[in-house]
Amino acid sequence: MLIRNTAVGDRECDVRIADGVVTDVVELTGGDAVRLAPRSEEDVLDGGRVTPPFAEPHVHLDAALLGRRAPNRSGTLREGIANWSALRASLTEEDIRERALATAQMYVDTGTLSIRTHVDTGCEVAVQTLLDLKPVLAERGVQLQVVAFPQEGILRAPGRREQWERAVALGCDAVGGIPHFERTTEEGWRSVRIAFDLAEENGRQLDFHCDETDDPGSRNLEVVCAEAIDRGFSGRVVCGHCTALHSYPNPYAAKICELVATAGVQVVANPLDNVVLQGRYDSYPRRRGLTRIDELWAAGAHVGIGHDSVMDPWYRLGTGNLLDAASMAIHLGHLTSEDAMRRVFRTLHHENHLPFGTPPEIFAGESAPILWWDEPDEIEILRLRPRPRVIS
Ligand code: FE2
Repeated sequence: MLIRNTAVGDRECDVRIADGVVTDVVELTGGDAVRLAPRSEEDVLDGGRVTPPFAEPHVHLDAALLGRRAPNRSGTLREGIANWSALRASLTEEDIRERALATAQMYVDTGTLSIRTHVDTGCEVAVQTLLDLKPVLAERGVQLQVVAFPQEGILRAPGRREQWERAVALGCDAVGGIPHFERTTEEGWRSVRIAFDLAEENGRQLDFHCDETDDPGSRNLEVVCAEAIDRGFSGRVVCGHCTALHSYPNPYAAKICELVATAGVQVVANPLDNVVLQGRYDSYPRRRGLTRIDELWAAGAHVGIGHDSVMDPWYRLGTGNLLDAASMAIHLGHLTSEDAMRRVFRTLHHENHLPFGTPPEIFAGESAPILWWDEPDEIEILRLRPRPRVIS
């Protein structure tokens, strides 16, 4: 495959892909480049933009596509949890597998080939089913990571911690947690330290649902960052949501943004869910419930953008297209400057890969697949949300 006159970052290039590798990237800017000539029988595309594939850092495949089966009539987090709890015990391997594969295909169709899913460790059949899907999806070119997520906390009731530890022992890639959901502030902090202990013992990454509340008194992110620094976990910890940061007093928020950057903790914003699940105790003015993406960027922190729910008990909408989540982040975060919109687009194919390792780039020698967009301008891609062509 030869792609001529195509945008690569802020350059115009000719790009060749052969036998699963990007073999040539020739920059045309300057005019004296030796153009790549089509070989016989080689497919040729012209124009548009090429990017690495997108990565999804935060979704729940065990619950995906259940939204129609158990409608959330109030649209609240509380009813979502109740609906999930009612469904969870009746889920079968076949059902979980079918929904997870259908959802993964939605991601593939819209350019996402790496998926990090959380799995509720209170449902062992879901844990095993999603772990079993890793090689199945790998054959289809999709990298799957599974986070052992204790949906109902580890300290609130007997047996939950053991279920969560068993999920890690079964082979989950990362240890999850939900400190703001534990009974007390102290137990939340304790749960963070227990999660670090488990990750250390088993050589795993960490991925918390952290401070997913409008309560400015929910201060687990600082504990996660301190533990990450003290235990040398820089680059191996993700904190999803962090919506309390939206509501912290500004001086404390500034301290936290700096601490997140220093700790090498990645914050993953989930704007689709958070805009409808947060602010539920507000009348007006009603808070947006999105973490402070712009201030985290300014502090030098890594921020990812997740879809979180795909038509599940918490969020009835969603198509598995990360451009939808990016568009929502732009709207809610006042990220409408030209630079901010381009940075949001880049997040999907760059920072979103950090939980999976070094983000891919487009250069000669890099492995395919890559995405080709029939549109060179990132902002137009965000506006129109076209489907990319996956080229391998
Ligand atoms: Fe989540």
